[in-house]
Amino acid sequence: MTRSRTLSAAARPPFHRASVILAMMAAIALFMMSMAVHAADDKDKGLSDEDMACLKCHSKPGQEKTLGNGEKLSLFIGTKAFAESVHGKEGCEGCHSEIDAKTHGKERTSIASKREHALSMMDACRDCHKKTFKQYEDSVHAALVQDGSEKAPLCSDCHDPHATRSAKNTPANTDTVICQKCHEKIDKAFMASVHGQPAGDDVLVCADCHRTHNVKAASLGDNMKKECISCHRDTASTHGKWLPNTDRHLEAISCPACHAPGAKRRVNLRLYDGLTQQQASDKVGVPQFIKLAGGRDANGSLDARALWSMLQEFNRNGSQGKTVVRGRLEVKTGIEAHQMAKKEQALKDCDTCHSEGAEPFQSVTVSIAGPDGRPVRRDASKGILNSVESIESVGGFYAIGSTRIKLLDTLLALTVAAGILLPGAHLTAKWLFRRARAKREAAADHGSDESAPN
Ligand code: HEC
Ligand code: HEC
Ligand code: HEC
Ligand code: HEC
Ligand code: HEC
Ligand code: HEC
Ligand code: HEC
Ligand code: HEC
Ligand code: HEC
Repeated sequence: MTRSRTLSAAARPPFHRASVILAMMAAIALFMMSMAVHAADDKDKGLSDEDMACLKCHSKPGQEKTLGNGEKLSLFIGTKAFAESVHGKEGCEGCHSEIDAKTHGKERTSIASKREHALSMMDACRDCHKKTFKQYEDSVHAALVQDGSEKAPLCSDCHDPHATRSAKNTPANTDTVICQKCHEKIDKAFMASVHGQPAGDDVLVCADCHRTHNVKAASLGDNMKKECISCHRDTASTHGKWLPNTDRHLEAISCPACHAPGAKRRVNLRLYDGLTQQQASDKVGVPQFIKLAGGRDANGSLDARALWSMLQEFNRNGSQGKTVVRGRLEVKTGIEAHQMAKKEQALKDCDTCHSEGAEPFQSVTVSIAGPDGRPVRRDASKGILNSVESIESVGGFYAIGSTRIKLLDTLLALTVAAGILLPGAHLTAKWLFRRARAKREAAADHGSDESAPN
């Protein structure tokens, strides 16, 4: 505005001497004013008197306070960094409203640990960042904190509250650096992968697949696959050109299982609620799972019969829908899940999976999603996939026999099952239930409540 007014004035003839003098005087006045502002800048960087009063003590380097657990809390706050941060205008008071000026700095207060202090300060963020705070509260990180984790991040683990810069002024990979602090090995794998190598100006960051604040458990349901497809929209059609039963393959195999060529793979049998089509996940289910997964074969892993009776038990007590098992072929570790390579290296050979003794089927786990969405796993015997006893539980999974002709397998299995298994299974079930009932009655006598969430 100012500039356009000056321009139009200059363009307007005639040019009076008086106006030139006036303009010069104005320019001198402006110059002096700007000098004054600069001087003030040097003194307090535009911070309020109240903030400067806090900083009179807190800008002295080297001050520390010893906390309950022996940690040293540095009391130093950088004036310049704070003044330049997004919170400079909010002032210390914006977050530290609880400080009592009368006693502060004179009387010692006791703080158990850095973590406890950061936790107690976190509510302040909620006041001004309601939406972000809500997203965070919904995350696996927050669930872990709630569960008492000392390692899961609080707001201040990712944002220095005294030096937060606007995302606009930070390099594009800042996000990744923040996550790297705690997920170092995954970061390394990611950086070496096809996504970690910039394609033109595109640098992928962790949040492109995991979100920033609303981070969810990675292996829950189809969360990750949805993220992949949000960028690689034509996945179904490109794969359909060479992969028959494309939908079924993309449903039963996690993307990294084919795209991380060096990874080790396994079959994970995930417990699902048949009614809601969600992975079974609640506080009651997990202890029950852990208890029931106790039935193990000689190698210490869950066998077919134990799985079968576990499902029976779930479905007998369950007030929700029928609990079913869904197989998923996946990579073994979170690190391998990030080792995705160029498409030329992806698994394409049908025999890798559809042959006798195929590698991915040699390792099997059974899992239920815990309350925070992360899986609680138990090893299962690999025989669980082939055993006729699992037909009912593992039913749909192709792995039976691991040959190409499922129909034959199924027919064969059904024949055997009808002849031998079913009567046997019924007897076993009755026996197991009787035992379980007796146990429950005994427990009730002792007044314990096994189904209470803990
Ligand atoms: C945006 C919110 C916010 C503002 C504004 C803020 N603080 Fe803090 N402050 C925190 C949080 C959160 C913690 C605890 C987490 C941590 O350790 O960084 C903290 C911790 C501290 C500590 C303990 C040492 C430390 O670094 O943990 C001191 C001292 C402190 N603040 C002083 C100040 C002063 C002085 C100002 C103003 C110049 C100020 N704070 C402004 C949020 C804030
Ligand atoms: C007179 C010096 C002085 C002033 C002024 C001062 N502080 Fe402190 N502050 C201290 C000392 C000393 C401690 C350590 C107290 C202890 O050991 O218990 C401290 C500790 C803190 C802590 C760590 C948590 C705690 O309670 O021990 C925070 C946060 C803090 N000050 C913020 C502020 C803010 C915000 C202001 C301005 C409103 C302020 N201080 C003004 C001297 C001062
Ligand atoms: C008194 C209000 C207030 C409080 C309390 C507060 N903030 Fe802020 N915060 C702001 C304002 C205002 C901005 C700048 C405007 C914006 O970008 O939303 C900001 C910006 C931010 C940004 C940068 C946003 C961007 O542009 O990239 C982050 C990160 C942030 N705050 C984190 C925190 C954290 C963590 C806490 C708690 C320790 C906190 N804030 C507490 C007011 C507050
Ligand atoms: C796991 C790390 C992490 C945690 C925990 C975290 N943030 Fe962030 N936050 C980020 C990253 C990364 C960005 C992206 C901006 C950037 O590149 O600096 C961001 C951006 C922001 C922004 C600006 C953009 C937006 O989404 O609104 C605000 C405000 C913010 N965070 C506040 C908070 C608050 C408040 C908390 C605690 C409830 C919190 N953050 C917890 C990593 C985190
Ligand atoms: C291209 C998408 C993508 C990006 C980018 C990405 N991840 Fe992942 N992440 C995945 C997939 C896929 C999984 C495995 C999910 C599953 O089990 O199906 C995963 C799993 C995880 C897990 C869980 C590991 C475990 O033990 O189960 C963590 C933690 C994680 N990622 C952190 C990160 C971090 C930190 C970054 C950035 C350095 C990152 N991810 C970048 C896709 C991505
Ligand atoms: C202060 C440490 C810390 C920071 C910073 C951090 N995380 Fe985490 N995160 C954890 C811990 C601890 C866990 C739980 C243990 C685990 O799964 O590794 C976890 C779990 C996760 C999980 C769920 C793992 C699973 O099994 O499904 C994902 C996904 C994840 N983090 C992604 C991220 C992303 C993305 C960032 C950056 C925006 C990030 N984390 C920053 C500590 C951190
Ligand atoms: C059975 C193994 C397998 C599975 C499962 C699989 N892919 Fe692929 N994918 C491949 C192979 C092999 C290629 C290379 C095809 C070719 O030769 O052009 C490929 C190609 C791609 C490409 C390159 C596309 C192009 O231009 O041709 C992308 C992107 C991709 N896959 C993403 C995904 C995503 C996302 C998922 C999970 C939803 C997934 N893939 C699941 C094997 C698989
Ligand atoms: C934010 C967008 C984004 C997300 C989300 C994403 N990718 Fe990518 N992906 C890219 C970009 C960009 C490239 C590199 C450019 C290219 O080759 O297409 C790439 C490359 C690939 C390639 C190599 C393609 C080739 O031509 O060699 C594969 C395979 C792939 N992604 C699979 C996945 C899988 C699996 C997921 C989910 C776990 C995923 N992507 C999530 C953007 C994304
Ligand atoms: C990474 C392992 C893997 C690769 C590679 C793979 N498959 Fe599959 N295939 C599976 C799994 C797992 C299923 C789903 C099992 C189920 O539905 O129970 C499946 C299902 C099928 C089915 C459907 C069987 C049925 O009855 O529903 C056919 C047909 C099939 N695959 C053929 C192929 C062909 C042809 C190729 C090579 C072009 C191939 N597969 C590559 C693992 C793989």
